[in-house]
Amino acid sequence: MEDAREEIKSRLAIEDVVGQYIELRRAGRSLKGRSPWGVDKTPSFMVSPEKGIWHDFSANKGGDIFSFIMEVEGIPFREAVEKLAAQAGVELKKYSVGDKRVAHLKVRMKEALDLATKYYQVALTKNKSVCEYVFYKRNMNRATVKEFRIGYSPSTGRALRTFLEKKGFNQEEMRGAGLTTQYGSDMFKGRMMVPFIDTNGQVIGYTARILDKGEPKYINTPDTILFNKSRYIFGFYQAKESIRRDGFVVIVEGNMDVISSHQAGVKQAVATSGTAMTEQHLKILSRMTNDVRLAYDGDDAGVNATERAINIAGKLGINLSVISDYHGAKDPDELIQKDPALWKEAVKNCKPAVDWLLDKYEEKLDLTSAQGKKEYSDVAMKLINFLSDSVERKHYEQIVAKRLDVTVEDLQQKNISTSNSPRRLKPVKNNDTQDIKDKRLKFLEDSLLAIMVFGGEAGANIDLEIPEDETKLEELSLIFETKYKNQSVDSLKKDCDDMYRQYQKARTAKRIAELSAELDKCEDDDDRVREILLEMKKLQKG
Ligand code: UTP
Ligand code: MN
Repeated sequence: MEDAREEIKSRLAIEDVVGQYIELRRAGRSLKGRSPWGVDKTPSFMVSPEKGIWHDFSANKGGDIFSFIMEVEGIPFREAVEKLAAQAGVELKKYSVGDKRVAHLKVRMKEALDLATKYYQVALTKNKSVCEYVFYKRNMNRATVKEFRIGYSPSTGRALRTFLEKKGFNQEEMRGAGLTTQYGSDMFKGRMMVPFIDTNGQVIGYTARILDKGEPKYINTPDTILFNKSRYIFGFYQAKESIRRDGFVVIVEGNMDVISSHQAGVKQAVATSGTAMTEQHLKILSRMTNDVRLAYDGDDAGVNATERAINIAGKLGINLSVISDYHGAKDPDELIQKDPALWKEAVKNCKPAVDWLLDKYEEKLDLTSAQGKKEYSDVAMKLINFLSDSVERKHYEQIVAKRLDVTVEDLQQKNISTSNSPRRLKPVKNNDTQDIKDKRLKFLEDSLLAIMVFGGEAGANIDLEIPEDETKLEELSLIFETKYKNQSVDSLKKDCDDMYRQYQKARTAKRIAELSAELDKCEDDDDRVREILLEMKKLQKG
């Protein structure tokens, strides 16, 4: 049971659980909202994603996700666990009765892995040529080596095993953790050790690189009861704060690309370790952001991987884009070794995945020949038909039509004749009604105006039109007095900047919704359609 709870907690973010009941907004390191028990006038409900706890200052209660569900749903503990287990996709059966032994084994395995990691870290500092590889050849600095807990596994056959045995660990524990082989010798010998760290900061396995040339280049911990490669995201522990703060994630192919990227200052980078991206990976990431940027290679494998990712992303309501400005480098790591600024630039200049794929198709095919045009329109329309949003589809149909020098009608004609029922992905998940969105926008606007007018320095970055109406100004002053007056300038400024970002996003979303509604009505007015699409494009970029 204890173990099941751990597993559920590690899979569900508290802000998502609470967010199903309460509208939360960021306030520094935590999130705030109104009490679900309806006794507060100003937001007094607080969530700390880092600590995984909530507290309601007005009702004076608090706890973790389980106690929240118990309180808010009025159900007993057992039911709350079942409910959350279902959400997290955790099978309770697996954990129940008699599995105390497994729970104990897991604890021991984690202890062994933590000790092994320390052992590898020390071994690194003692070996000059390995230090040379890590610090000079791979160009990692001390902070990076420390943060990612990089180490070295000595090449003598049973060095780690002997060490762990002295510390009281047995074969089952070492083997279970993937530290030793079936023959009882060390799993990793003479390699640079890069730990797989879970979302709690706990080591659950390794990817181990050979120094310089040789095969296999990497040896990874196999799936164990702690490590599951189709769900594991390398770098997530180190990246999650930045992903949350900046609202995007960068997925690279290699673990070393993640490490280099973090060192170069792009701390939103993660990788799927030694496996292709799965729906589970994207699901975990989509809990934090829907701006997902892929940094795959531009080769055929990269194109295939991107096509696959588009299909999964559509279902999850993810906005996928592709980073491709590599300046001839083979992967992000190589680009960063050239110049970290180029990588930052590339991340900024990512292209929507569909645009990127259309460009790739265009590169490969001869669009001056009839055959090339046919093939291009085949793959392009197949891709476009996967998009769930009608406006987006129209946007790309126009692009494709233009490239082929035909009309959109010609394309749609083809669409009807070639595929009788194009498969469309589910529409982007959208729980909020327009009404709630409008209220939220107003709430953000009022708060920002209040800080801008009365908060001095804290509101310096806000650029909104100050209302002239006296009553409105009174109202704003009241908002400021009750909510923000006692906050320090620095923390208020931070909250304010966060809110301003959210506000701009929400306002853009609203404008896009308005435009798309208009678009449906003015299909025949070509000029207006063009204007609308232009404005939308600008908004989406901005
Ligand atoms: P790459 O061959 O592109 O490695 O494999 P890399 O990340 O650039 O590594 P360096 O820079 O040469 O050290 C990409 C990913 O594929 C997996 C690893 O997860 C690696 O990060 N891989 C590769 C393996 O699991 N085993 C291998 O033998 C090779
Ligand atoms: Mn590399």
